Amino acid sequence: MRTAITQMLGIEKPIFQGGMAWIADARLAAAVSEAGGLGIISSILGGPDAVRAEIRRAKELTSKPFGVNIMLAAPDAADVAALVIEEGVRIVTTGAGSPSPYMKAWKDAGIRVIPVVASVAYALKMQELGADAVIAEGAESGGHIGDIHTMALVPQIVDAVGIPVMAAGGIFDGRGAAAAFMLGACGVQVGTRFLVADECRVHDVYKERLIKASDIGTMITGKSLGDAVRCLKTPFAKQFAKMEASRDVTPEQIRAFGTGSLRKAVFDGDLSGGSFLAGEVAGLVKRRESASDIVNDIICGAERLLGQAKELI
Ligand SMILES: Cc1cc2nc3c(=O)[nH]c(=O)nc-3n(C[C@H](O)[C@H](O)[C@H](O)COP(=O)(O)O)c2cc1C
Repeated sequence: MRTAITQMLGIEKPIFQGGMAWIADARLAAAVSEAGGLGIISSILGGPDAVRAEIRRAKELTSKPFGVNIMLAAPDAADVAALVIEEGVRIVTTGAGSPSPYMKAWKDAGIRVIPVVASVAYALKMQELGADAVIAEGAESGGHIGDIHTMALVPQIVDAVGIPVMAAGGIFDGRGAAAAFMLGACGVQVGTRFLVADECRVHDVYKERLIKASDIGTMITGKSLGDAVRCLKTPFAKQFAKMEASRDVTPEQIRAFGTGSLRKAVFDGDLSGGSFLAGEVAGLVKRRESASDIVNDIICGAERLLGQAKELI
């Protein structure tokens, strides 16, 4: 498949593996890039030195393009913003804040900048700042979410901006990807399905919980704090929601309860202390697979369905 995004980035298949804090390391990103998609390393891996090491490791594992996802609200965002230039990273995706302070330096370094957006207004703002494309992420997604869902969000952003739009949130296989292309997207970003990739570092308990999850297996926590995240319904998530509903618990106490919870899920598989971030497609996850099988199933599946589409008319 050739789309505006494959041509812009020099990748074979229009699929990104979403940056995932504490999870998206060189091994996963390189496996996705080797399969023809765009692997993305997270900026939240334990400090700038760890991110630099993962970038260098990815270069050893693949000669194909890969990106770095920078969470702009993180205290060390400025350090990571500088090190991606030093390390010659070609593609940056951003989340949780405005890339404005870094945009000029990145553009001068020839970096393609692709912010994650959850509304039309923010997509327009990113275009104005000079973004090369945007990732329209709907509220079906795992992790931090906005209010609008992919089916409604993507065409509204496609209509509003003149730059390429990727679709994220709720895309699991060729069916979701084909739908995203029909909505006007030129590619897809997938997070949840890559959590069960053989190359993904998350704890076995995390993978097994995803495989067992049903269609109603996720919930949203953190909305009362202005920081909504979608995660699996675990004892931790239920306790978090209970605290949010209680008048006797302060926002500070809730925040303290949530501190470090993604790490506890990723590394310890801790069901009572960990936040198992996952999207609504968790119910479709049935088995562990290699990253390349995931990439090929999604893109070949979409190609097949789009080829058959005229039979519907
Ligand atoms: C465990 C997990 C962690 C995530 N962490 C980040 C992150 O650090 N930065 C970011 O921009 N997006 C993050 N996301 C969102 C993904 O990059 C991606 O856009 C999203 O998962 C796509 O929707 P899906 O979960 O339905 O596939 C995360 C998602 C998950 C599931």
